[in-house]
Order: sequence, then C-alpha cells, then structure tokens
Amino acid sequence: MQKDPSKKYRPFPPVHLPDRQWPDRVLTQAPRWCSVDLRDGNQALAVPMNVSQKLELFNTLVKCGFKEIEVGFPSASNTEFTFNRRLIEERRAPDDVWLQVLVQAREDLIERTFESLVGAKKVIIHMYNSTSPAQRRVVFGMSKEQIVQVAVRGAELIKERLPRLKGTDVMLQYSPESFSATEVEFAKEVSEAVMDVWRPTPGHKMILNLPDTVEVAMPNVYADQIEWICRNIRDRDSLIISLHTHNDRYTGVAATELGLLAGADRVEGTLFGNGERTGNLDIVTVALNLYMHGIDPKLNFTDLNAVIDVYERCTGMTVPARHPYAGELVFTAFSGSHQDAIKKGLAEWERGGRAHWDVPYLTIDPNDISRQYREVIRVNSQSGKGGVAYLLENEFGIQLPKEMQREFGPIANEEVDRLGREVSGAELKDMFWREYIERAKPWELQAFETESKNGVVRCRARMLRDGKTVDFVGEGNGPLAALVHGFGQAGVPRFEITNYSEHALSAGEEASAIAYIQIKHADGRTRWGAGVDTNIELASVRAVLSALNRS
Ligand code: KIV
Ligand code: ZN
Repeated sequence: MQKDPSKKYRPFPPVHLPDRQWPDRVLTQAPRWCSVDLRDGNQALAVPMNVSQKLELFNTLVKCGFKEIEVGFPSASNTEFTFNRRLIEERRAPDDVWLQVLVQAREDLIERTFESLVGAKKVIIHMYNSTSPAQRRVVFGMSKEQIVQVAVRGAELIKERLPRLKGTDVMLQYSPESFSATEVEFAKEVSEAVMDVWRPTPGHKMILNLPDTVEVAMPNVYADQIEWICRNIRDRDSLIISLHTHNDRYTGVAATELGLLAGADRVEGTLFGNGERTGNLDIVTVALNLYMHGIDPKLNFTDLNAVIDVYERCTGMTVPARHPYAGELVFTAFSGSHQDAIKKGLAEWERGGRAHWDVPYLTIDPNDISRQYREVIRVNSQSGKGGVAYLLENEFGIQLPKEMQREFGPIANEEVDRLGREVSGAELKDMFWREYIERAKPWELQAFETESKNGVVRCRARMLRDGKTVDFVGEGNGPLAALVHGFGQAGVPRFEITNYSEHALSAGEEASAIAYIQIKHADGRTRWGAGVDTNIELASVRAVLSALNRS
C-alpha cells in the first residue's frame, strides 16, 4: 500500500445540494422491482447459466413476485437469443410480467434485439451507453457531444423499429452507464437528449435507470446524485427513476435505500447480490429490510430456503453463512447472553406479550421466511447454560430444573471446549446421558419394590455395589424416603433428598419418564442425578443412584 495514498488516489467530489431533502424522509412503500439475475448476474458467472438453468431461475423469480425481469442480452450470444425466444414462443411469462432486454446503442445489436422480441406480450427495451469521464476518455475516446450523439442515435434506431412490435406493450429504458461517476449535469444532458427522441409522457413513461456501475463514493453521495437528477431533470413526471447499484464499497444496499429516499421509484438488483465483482444490489435484503419495518415488500420470500436452493443450483454460487436473512448462521446465537435474551424474547412473543415483534437479536421472526426457531440456538464454548437447556428441551423434551442447569451447563461447556467446535442437540443429549443416566458405578439397580401399610412405605431393594450384591430394606413416608432409609441401613453415609422433579418424555424416546433428584450429603455437598424408566417410581430410584454415583 501507498505510504501517502493521496499521491495516488483522490477524494470523490461531492454534489452541491445544500438543501437536500432525503435525510429527513422515511420509506413507506415498496419500489417497483426489476430482477437482473438473468443478465447482470448471469454475465458475472464463471460458467454462465444454460437455457434450462435460466428457465428454472426465471420461474423462481416469477414465483417470488417479480413483475419486471431482465432476461438477457439477446444480441450478445445464441444462448441469450434462444432463451428469449423460448420464453416468448412457449408463453412462459405470465401476462403481467415484463421481459426486459439489454442492448447497447449500436445498430446491429438493436436489430438483433428486435428480432428476439417478436411475439412478446410485454417488453422493456433497455438501451445503455457509458457516460463517465474515464469511459469517455479511455474506452471511447469521445467528447461529451459524441457520447450524446451515440445515445441519441441508439434511441432513434429503437424508435424507428417500434412498429415492428405490433401487439406488444413496450416500455423504453435508458441507462447512462457509469452514472455515479458521471458529472450530474452531463448525466442530465444525455438523458434529456434521449427523452427528446422517445418523448415519454405521464401516461406513457420511460424508465431512466441511474447505475452505480462501480461504487466510487459513499451512499449519501449517490443519494445526492439521485435527488439532484429528480429535482433538475425535465419532465420528471414522465419518468420512472430507477436505481441499479453495485457493491464495490460494500454499501450497495445502503446506496439503494438512500436512493429511494432521494426520490427513485424503481430498483434493479439480483437475488443475494450476485453480479460483477462484489456483486449487484441484493434485492432480498432490501425487500426484507422493508418487511422488518412493517412495509409490504411486494415480493414473497416465505420459502427463502427453496429460493436459495434454486439460486445455488442454477448459478453455482453459494449464499455465505453470514448473509443477511438468508445465511445459514443469521438466526443462530452462539453467545450465552444472546441465547438467554432470545429465549426470553421468544417466550414473551409466544405469550402474546407484545403487539409487534421485539425479540432481542432477531430482526424478524425466522419463521416468516421458513427458518426454524430451533436453528436459533446452537451451542459452542461461548454458550451459557441457557443455550444448553434450550436445545435439550426443544429437541428432546428434557426439561432440566433450573438448579440442575447450573450444574450441567459448565460440564457441557467443558466438553464443548475440549472438542473446540459447535455441538448439536443430539451430542448434548449424549453428554447428559453419559453424565447422569448411564452411570452404573458403584451403585447399580437390580430390583426395587414397595408396599404400603398404614401410611408407611416399606421398600425392598437389591443393588450391585461395585459388582457385589447388596440387599436392604427401608421404611419411610414414601418410596424415596424408604430408599434413603434403606441406604442408611446398608451403611451408606447419611444423605437427604433436597430437590425432586419428573416429567414424561416425549413419544419416541426410549423410556416414558425422567426424574431429576438432588441429594445433599452430611458434609453439605449437593449432587444432581437423573434416571429414566418406563415406571416413574423406578425412574426416581435410578435418579437417586445417579446422584450417589456422581458423589
Ligand atoms: O451496472 C451497470 O451499469 C449496468 C448497466 C448496463 C445498467 O449493468
Ligand atoms: Zn450492473
């Protein structure tokens, strides 16, 4: 890196807009959306989609509710042309969906594009040419006037050919490509020159798409550029102002959201932000950001997992684990304090304690996009006892008493620490079983029966102690009291039962009841034990043995 970056790089010049309005506005409704997955997204893939992959993704986009879909660049290749033809000839687009096609302002490409559109129901013809100083100088070697001429000539060539699309609803779109790096005055000039040819009206608007082709500034600068255009361009009411952000500075979403505040009507982007370099705008994130503020996004991601499956299969890309809303880990809390807060928040929500969602750490209800509550909590070495207890209860119906959680939590954490990775609910259950249920040394139950007379319970027990048979009897006001008494008779140092609970285990478990017992030794030490059996009395006897075996 440079010692003095200012020798190599320069700051981006701000737009002069001292009375900018966008910072005081709030979003209240969804914009028009246009998916560019099949064009901008596709052209950024190492292996572009074939026709059947494009068809599958197209169907998914329609299912999500997109009404405008840029399906390709039909003059660019045979695959693109064929895909367009198949969509049209096989009538794959619902009547309310506009098929958008991209074309450069060049006659041969415009000609081929029109051939690809014959017979379509609704199309958006999207013409672009690049306008920034660097593009003018480096790529085209053209003056501003020449760049305007390219745009005007392209607009005329399109207009001349419109009569060929009889029976097709046509909307026209122009993009001054690299808009965000273009002087706003020149972007206005070239856009108005195109408007002079196409002559949009409030009843038949054209789309003016203002691309952040490469993010070169902070998102507030893009918002200023959009507001400047909205306020200064001629015939604003004949235009649909559209945003098309990329993500070079990782602020594509922010730029789009601020651009909407600045007055734009429409947003172009892709699922999960696939696109050139760092990607296009992620439409899923912007839509769900609106949703989390109670605004209907007019896109349906109820089955987000199914959308991810199709996206990954068709594009060969993967959605990263931390990707907003969609990532594998975004509804997962690793830290104990987060787990605790989420657990309490979810309980409050389920009790109906709040009118609106307000669960700490979860911006939306995962369930709304078919993610599971059980995905919310996983356990690693940073987790507290709350997470351990949550998983045992949610996945296996094991309801550890609070005090027992305090004993088992650190035991589980130590084991997780030793493993050095996250553990599943099943692994936690195995740990619990090894620690409490499967302990058979020194004491192991052979037989236990009770009889009751005049309020006194008598027990007869046969145990193994380190493999040797021990028989004893005991008496008390209940089976457990009789057992404790019997142990005393057998010479076991005195202890008492200080805590007891039990519940049925959910169907499918290997036994039907689980008992939890805490014992206290004469020296004050306490130990928990747990026992499982089809017979609740035997489950509690096993729990006493478990506690003794852990002493
Ligand atoms: O990023 C961009 O500028 C584009 C245009 C063709 C709209 O994709
Ligand atoms: Zn783009």
